[in-house]
Amino acid sequence: MYNAFFGFSEGPFSLSPDPNFLYRSEQHEEALANLIYGVQARKGFVILTGEVGTGKTTMLECLRDWLESQYIEFAFLFNSRINTQQFFEMIAYDLNLPCERTSKTEVLFALNQLLVEQVQQGRTVVLIVDEAHNLEWEVLEEIRLLGNLENRNGKLLQIVLAGQPEFDRMIDQPNLRQLKQRIVLRYNLNPFTLRDAVEYMESRLHKAGMAQNTVFSEELMAEIHLRTQGIPRVINAVSDNLLLTAFAQEQKLCTTEMLDEVCRDMRLEWPGSRRQRPRVPEESFERTRF
Ligand SMILES: Nc1ncnc2c1ncn2[C@@H]1O[C@H](COP(=O)(O)OP(=O)(O)OP(=O)(O)O)[C@@H](O)[C@H]1O
Ligand SMILES: [Mg+2]
Repeated sequence: MYNAFFGFSEGPFSLSPDPNFLYRSEQHEEALANLIYGVQARKGFVILTGEVGTGKTTMLECLRDWLESQYIEFAFLFNSRINTQQFFEMIAYDLNLPCERTSKTEVLFALNQLLVEQVQQGRTVVLIVDEAHNLEWEVLEEIRLLGNLENRNGKLLQIVLAGQPEFDRMIDQPNLRQLKQRIVLRYNLNPFTLRDAVEYMESRLHKAGMAQNTVFSEELMAEIHLRTQGIPRVINAVSDNLLLTAFAQEQKLCTTEMLDEVCRDMRLEWPGSRRQRPRVPEESFERTRF
């Protein structure tokens, strides 16, 4: 909507997990390196956790790109509210297994064949499950059993599970300790530091076609970081609304007043936000002063 006004070739702050807009913060870089290493070294289980909106799905999309570039077969389950029957059907569908997809026995048989075939060619197969905190215990148990398939050189199926921090707590439960023992690599994504948040916003503006950031001042970005608490998705939502507000006012530079308005509209809360509201207008302050 405001792209032409600011000279963007596309929206800089979209909410989709698009690897083309990837900002390689140190931790995102490390997270991706862990995922790739886990697959390459055939480590079996790799876990990625992080608060809502910190970039887990984006990392998985980057992993997907890498797997495609390496011609590695994979299944990507992004809907984890499934029962065991649906779980096997989805794996069979994604890996295009030549079998009756509604029969668990047939799917397991065909999967095993694929794993053996791939390992003979020096390759591996990957199962990616996003939103793993929503998985039912029975499905997690099936995943654990799939993770048992191995030959002398390592696991035949690499399993990447991504979820919110409660997933970490879930696998700490006694009935999941068998799964926990098998997890070799674990990585947690944290919100951005101020420096990362600033570089993140600038990198997005740059990728959208603005060579030099002329819309957000340093102070405004610090304020955005504070109010969004460094969560990338919230930074995107706030920044997008800010640009829209500036566009509506035909201003090329976003201001703190615009940020206040956006935060009010979004009902955004951050540490200390309640102390600042409601704002008392100056005259009424004058009137009540003794
Ligand atoms: N390193 C990054 N580079 C570019 N964009 C990012 C990065 N990290 C997060 N984002 C952006 O932040 C938003 C949220 O990211 P994403 O959907 O990957 O989070 P999530 O952790 O999967 O959230 P949820 O817990 O809700 O599933 C997306 O718009 C995504 O593009
Ligand atoms: Mg996600």
